[in-house]
Amino acid sequence: MLAGHAGRAGLVLLAAGMAVLLWQPTDANWWAARLFGVATLMLTAVTLFMRPAPTQRSWHRIFGWAALAALAGHVIVTAGFQPVFWRWMTPAIPIEIVAGLVALLAFLVVLFVQRSRSLRRWLGPFSSLSVHRTAGYLLIAAACTHIFLIAGMGILTAAILLTGLSFFLIEGFLRERHVLGLVATLALFSGAIAWLAMGSMAETRLASLRKAPIDHARFLHTDHTGLACAGCHHNFIDRTGNENCLTCHKRISVSQTTRIDGMFHAFCSDCHRTDKRAGKKFGPIDDCNGCHDRTP
Ligand code: HEC
Ligand code: HEC
Ligand code: HEC
Ligand code: HEC
Repeated sequence: MLAGHAGRAGLVLLAAGMAVLLWQPTDANWWAARLFGVATLMLTAVTLFMRPAPTQRSWHRIFGWAALAALAGHVIVTAGFQPVFWRWMTPAIPIEIVAGLVALLAFLVVLFVQRSRSLRRWLGPFSSLSVHRTAGYLLIAAACTHIFLIAGMGILTAAILLTGLSFFLIEGFLRERHVLGLVATLALFSGAIAWLAMGSMAETRLASLRKAPIDHARFLHTDHTGLACAGCHHNFIDRTGNENCLTCHKRISVSQTTRIDGMFHAFCSDCHRTDKRAGKKFGPIDDCNGCHDRTP
């Protein structure tokens, strides 16, 4: 009863967060990736909520397969149509992408535990079901982390999404018989993300980012005439020097918040996004190739 209410509240809040996210303008081909991603999260949440009771069994399955189809779409659109995406696959990989990969792996575990007969025989019927469900909750938590970090959400949207996630996990804790396994899995996941963000791993990842050659992202001043120089060149006014933005920023990339890609993606895309909202001419927003693959 209580679990049902918590689950419903969680679903509604997750849906509200996703609706706000979809309202953010972006490039045409990035829309597809975003729609598929949001659909995957919502379909998985509904699948988990609809337990396979004797009367509901087929719904659980139908939503599960629909979530898999949406996930396949998301992966194909991002990895297949944005070649620059593969640049993230170095030790300098951003944490949001790690969270996305964890969600992908968790989905495969959910699927294989249920589909592979030999795996189920090996685990036994009870533990295979509990692995299936625990992986489902891990999937939701990892997907929310992925979306939350990647979207650069406003504080309100972030609060809605995270409250939705916690309601949803409360539902899991209230219903799950193997609560300890679920708690341990989620704690391990949060621990691993924190370690990647703050521990010695973070040092290694950032060192690798600083060593990689600068791409220059094919930035052209001719696309940006009529803008105040100092609007971008804070170095002209705060006397940090006349150096090129990129070489200096590469050097100061020593923490997650000063990562060159994170900082510049926010800087360049935010202006393009504001222009798009205002109905003016605008540059690329999320479309990697719009900035990274242009021949000048
Ligand atoms: C939209 C933001 C933006 C505006 C507006 C802008 N710049 Fe730039 N500028 C950049 C970026 C980004 C780079 C680095 C590009 C690169 O190296 O690929 C750069 C590089 C430069 C460089 C080369 C620095 C070096 O040592 O390599 C000079 C000089 C420069 N800008 C001058 C200006 C002047 C003068 C104006 C105003 C008329 C101006 N910029 C307006 C973003 C901007
Ligand atoms: C000589 C070094 C240097 C140069 C050159 C430089 N920056 Fe910075 N930039 C910094 C430092 C230092 C900060 C502050 C970092 C912090 O707040 O932790 C910063 C901050 C920023 C921020 C974040 C501001 C905020 O409010 O969060 C942006 C965006 C940025 N720089 C863009 C640029 C652009 C674009 C250029 C070139 C047109 C440029 N920078 C040139 C050193 C530099
Ligand atoms: C202050 C606002 C502003 C900032 C900051 C800004 N841009 Fe732009 N950008 C524009 C506008 C406006 C246009 C559209 C120009 C046009 O089409 O006439 C544009 C166009 C572009 C285009 C051309 C798109 C096309 O289809 O030809 C590219 C590429 C681009 N920007 C890259 C960048 C990069 C990289 C940065 C960060 C280093 C950046 N922009 C920062 C306002 C901005
Ligand atoms: C609005 C322009 C813009 C868009 C869109 C954009 N980037 Fe970037 N990106 C930049 C700028 C500017 C930098 C900063 C330094 C540079 O040029 O390498 C950067 C840096 C990076 C870096 C790290 C530094 C490097 O040179 O390897 C990676 C990786 C990266 N971007 C990947 C992506 C991916 C993946 C996407 C699509 C999701 C994307 N970018 C979309 C402008 C953009």
